[in-house]
Amino acid sequence: MEYSKEREESAKKLAAQQVLPNVQWFPGHMTKARRIITDNLKLVDVVIELLDARIPYSSANPMIQEIIADKPKVVALNKADLADPAATKEWIAYFKAKDIKAVAVDATQGRGIKQLVQLTEDLARSKTEKLVSKGAKPRAARVMILGIPNVGKSSLINRLAGSNKAKTADKPGVTRAKQWIRLGSQLELLDTPGILWPKFEDMNAGLKLAFTGAINDEAIDRELITGVFLETMLRSYPERLAERYKIKEELPDKPEDLLELIGRKRGCLLKGGIIDMEKAQRIVLTDFRSGKLGAISLDRPTDISQEKD
Ligand code: G4P
Repeated sequence: MEYSKEREESAKKLAAQQVLPNVQWFPGHMTKARRIITDNLKLVDVVIELLDARIPYSSANPMIQEIIADKPKVVALNKADLADPAATKEWIAYFKAKDIKAVAVDATQGRGIKQLVQLTEDLARSKTEKLVSKGAKPRAARVMILGIPNVGKSSLINRLAGSNKAKTADKPGVTRAKQWIRLGSQLELLDTPGILWPKFEDMNAGLKLAFTGAINDEAIDRELITGVFLETMLRSYPERLAERYKIKEELPDKPEDLLELIGRKRGCLLKGGIIDMEKAQRIVLTDFRSGKLGAISLDRPTDISQEKD
């Protein structure tokens, strides 16, 4: 199969030009988000940074470290059910090498949640113990969740809250108007997550966010996104395409030919036997997002080995 790097680059550039200006984050929004988070950070001992396990690099906020400063953090790689387990393992090792605790979770099914709570408690303990040693009353550690839109913040909060939906009452003073959810005797979770903007100034990251649906589909050019996505799949997971769409012949190397073939295989036909390319695009993206193309990861730690933190 022939694969043209140049072609991919030009498609990416075009896609990025079309996609990224439509994302509804502006400097004013970022400043506001940052201010809200900075205010809430004062109330918590630990932060859970929620990333998409399929794209841990692309779904990270570019300024997260600057925003949380020296607050201890746990990384939760959410949607691990949709990510390639081998890649997730590499990411956990990557974070470990940086002395950051990371855990794979699935907020919808509950996988990894116990471990996440445990890690969070462990990290918070040193802080609460310090307070006690200074004569303060022992208290539960406080935590907040931070992440970009659609990464699963609400799902995680619901999952963590579990049957314990009853929130603790508003507390007087600094925590007034804040709602805390009790997680056992050791931990309290702020019920509103911090919403951060994604890394969409980075063209590749922006495209991966679009593939996963983190960027609203109304704002993207589906044709371009599907084309670049199929190129990525041809490079990294060609066997998944062949399997899912029952393609026995050699896969076409041009994404438009591949999409047409997928459309034909899936019976996306318009009058006169023309392939309904729009329908085929929706099928491909929906199949990826729902895991029907298998567990797929689009970021690897090796992709960012050049990147400085
Ligand atoms: P947010 O608060 O960060 O914006 O994200 P939210 O929890 O709303 O989750 C966004 C979408 O991701 C939801 O799907 C949610 O079900 C899905 N999701 C969250 N965590 C996981 C996970 O661990 N695995 C999988 N497979 N999906 C997850 P949706 O299609 O927008 O809504 P719905 O499917 O719940 O109806």
